[in-house]
Amino acid sequence: IMVEKQGFKHFMLKEIYEQSGVVRACLEAYFPASAEKPMTLGLPEEFYADLEQIQIVACGTSWHAALVGKYLLEQLAEIPTQVQYASEFRYAPSPMTANTLTIGVTQSGETADTLVALSMEKERRQGKEAKYQARLLGITNRPESTLGQMVGSIINTHGGIEIGVAATKTFIAQLMAFYGLALDLAHRRQTITAERLIEIIAGLRQLPTKIEAILETQERYIEQLVHDFAETKDFIFLGRGINFPIALEGALKLKEISYIHAEGYPAGEMKHGPIALLDVKVPVVAIAMPGSVYEKVISNAQEAKARDSRLIGVTSVNDGEAAEIFNDLIPVGEVEEILSPILTVIPLQLLAYHIAARRGLDVDQPRNLAKSVTVE
Ligand code: AGP
Repeated sequence: IMVEKQGFKHFMLKEIYEQSGVVRACLEAYFPASAEKPMTLGLPEEFYADLEQIQIVACGTSWHAALVGKYLLEQLAEIPTQVQYASEFRYAPSPMTANTLTIGVTQSGETADTLVALSMEKERRQGKEAKYQARLLGITNRPESTLGQMVGSIINTHGGIEIGVAATKTFIAQLMAFYGLALDLAHRRQTITAERLIEIIAGLRQLPTKIEAILETQERYIEQLVHDFAETKDFIFLGRGINFPIALEGALKLKEISYIHAEGYPAGEMKHGPIALLDVKVPVVAIAMPGSVYEKVISNAQEAKARDSRLIGVTSVNDGEAAEIFNDLIPVGEVEEILSPILTVIPLQLLAYHIAARRGLDVDQPRNLAKSVTVE
């Protein structure tokens, strides 16, 4: 299939702009308004029987999506969930547990470490008693991939083909798959009420227009903002709770395409070491969304500011306090905390993109990286 840039300077920027459409496609696939059931994931019934635990293996950006997934599966569906790097799982697999769903998350469906981790899991459970039987689920953008052939069941992420090496729209699609799965499980296990389910789904349906609003109102601003980072060598991204993995993802995007050193950190951990890195040369991007950790992130951000770091806030709060704390404010629309990663990641993608584009780097094909890592 020929994919073209359609007037965008890079595929990555085009793919960032495609994200509202991707969320719409995922909504249609997982939460069709017409269906009798609120969710249609098409997983086999035996996957749900006596389910006690979930383990997820993935690499890179897909691993970040898995961390958001863990938050959703634990907080909404109350299922203990482990997330492991596939490359680590291969040499130190967690003990085999009963009634466990194993999920491999891979955009390409071809990442060697993820495939091997899943096949190891399949193999070690073969011939064991019923409760130890492997239940393997793939979350992928390529159902026809090696992963698709290997596992019995797939959630297709409907991202469309992604050309940029830095994953953007496929990440958003993976998050959507986890909303579908976590809500499906929460509904079946009755860990959330029917009203709450309807409320969350209604919130999900509003996300595409909110993504569009961020792109419309913030891209220019971010493009201007990056002029100030021409000499910057280090960046710190802070988040907590469901937005901690988004801080990791923001840092990874920046590293991959701009070659700037960046770290994502849970904001509350800064004082246990990394705060020593901060000074006037190290900007800090803080994701501060209203909800269970807003005040905490704000106070962690203030600690960073006290070390002279320039503070960039990604938040939906646009009041005097926020304007005073943050040197630069990138507003995202109002959204309940549990849905916020779908919005907060967008400015971070744009920030990485514009820093790299301004430095004249090969955004779509960064040095040393390949779209799918098919070797160990
Ligand atoms: C994402 O921007 C990276 N290029 C990389 O971390 C990627 O997410 C990782 O290699 C996993 O790829 P996969 O989803 O195809 O398995």
